[in-house]
Amino acid sequence: MQKRAFMAIAHRGASEYAPENTFAAYDLALRMGATHIEIDVHLTSDGEVVVIHDDRVDRTTDGSGPVAAHTLAELQALDAGAWFGREFAGQRIPTLDDLLERYGGRAHLHIEIKGSTPGLVERTVALIRKYGVEVHVTITSFLREALAETRRVAPDLSTGWLVGEPTDEIVEQTLAMGLTQLCPRADLVTPELVTRLHDKDLVVRAWGVSDEALMRKVVDAGADGMTVNFPDKLLAYMEEE
Ligand code: G3P
Ligand code: CA
Repeated sequence: MQKRAFMAIAHRGASEYAPENTFAAYDLALRMGATHIEIDVHLTSDGEVVVIHDDRVDRTTDGSGPVAAHTLAELQALDAGAWFGREFAGQRIPTLDDLLERYGGRAHLHIEIKGSTPGLVERTVALIRKYGVEVHVTITSFLREALAETRRVAPDLSTGWLVGEPTDEIVEQTLAMGLTQLCPRADLVTPELVTRLHDKDLVVRAWGVSDEALMRKVVDAGADGMTVNFPDKLLAYMEEE
């Protein structure tokens, strides 16, 4: 398989240093030199796509309750930064529309479909088309059905399946669905696994990188990329290599 540049993907932005899934975290990631960012998306009660990880707002805002039980206006009234540090007070939950306007074409966006709310995939694809950034986007999910729907409505988009261990059955399903990437949990990534997946022409992109030792192990195994909360450290390691 052709060698591509390693993807150092800022996980929820530079989320080690700024509140995850906010413009503060994404701006910082880009300032650090990252050219890939990871984004979690959910649907509001009035059908808007918003950027937040959990299916509830409690952990990362001053509100409470399920994301899907709030309108966009209600969500945008919440503070999404103060929980992380007082200097981030006033950060808001971004819409995917605003995020695409701000970063589309400036970074590759790895958009993770969270939950199986009807309409989430379709609305996400419509926004990607609105900004014409199809080649700068990869749709990822732990949910096979969300990826199957993405393949149905947007077969031109790159897709990655987030899994634990890529068993033979998972690899077969990945190929049968025509997905581009397989995304194993980082601690399971070995040179043998990478070779096995590369032989099937799959891009190998890890997730769940908790510390620098694991980060180095994934790079050294020959993987094609990983999400990481500290993109500065990954970029520095890649410089050294
Ligand atoms: O890189 C994928 C990773 O984001 C999956 O885990 O829980 O952070 O969405 P999570
Ligand atoms: Ca994610």
